[in-house]
Amino acid sequence: MDTIVILTGAGISAESGLGTFRDEGGLWAQHRIEDVATPEAFARNPTLVHQFYNARRRQARAAEPNAAHVALARLQANWPGQTLLVTQNVDGLHEKAGAEVLHMHGALAGALCAACDHRWDAPETMSETDTCPACDTSHTRPDIVWFGEMPYHMEHILEALHGCDLFVAIGTSGQVYPAAGFVEEARMAGAATVELNLRDSDMSHAFDTHIVGPASQTVPRWVEDMLSGK
Ligand code: APR
Repeated sequence: MDTIVILTGAGISAESGLGTFRDEGGLWAQHRIEDVATPEAFARNPTLVHQFYNARRRQARAAEPNAAHVALARLQANWPGQTLLVTQNVDGLHEKAGAEVLHMHGALAGALCAACDHRWDAPETMSETDTCPACDTSHTRPDIVWFGEMPYHMEHILEALHGCDLFVAIGTSGQVYPAAGFVEEARMAGAATVELNLRDSDMSHAFDTHIVGPASQTVPRWVEDMLSGK
């Protein structure tokens, strides 16, 4: 078993105090996607969209990685083969735990200029009057991939999925594509597939193995088993 691709979702950060999207009382029960997470919403009401991401940025900066983030960083540092860690999360907790991660849905820590594509570190509070440090226009936005936009790093991720021996999905509901389709891509390439989740997800049927329970417990145990060759 030498090449592993790991996909994480909001469930891995739940025990760090960051709410998920679709669990009971989750973010999408409190806000409508079409009000805060689409390019059209931002064009219509940038103040509201900035308020939404400013609040999430503050929460994410205050949050600490939990045992699951730490265990994945340990796996990455000690696995004799290759690992690619891909996250749908924008919270930055994998990096805080010391892992190297591809952010397919962007990051709260980043700002992006919609006019010239320049990227820089987001201040804690962004507003529609901010100007781009490179081109000086005020077309600045959070570096977040909104619904209807193309996730980042897809070419790299698909190539890794097509060459992996093991695909692991942790804490994701399998409701949002293209990430929800990664398990099928990996299966078609002949990879073994493992799902770690608090409960069965919409994609559970597509995985060979299920490990049910809170990520802070299941992920460290799974990582120890992997590193000890079990
Ligand atoms: N441990 C493991 N899994 C958990 C835990 C936990 N402590 N708590 C919740 N989960 C699981 C839930 O059972 C659910 O399957 O995490 C999953 C969270 O699902 P979603 O809220 O849908 O989050 P995610 O899959 O990351 O959403 C994908 O949707 O709105 C977009 O862009 C947003 O990146 C996000 C994407």
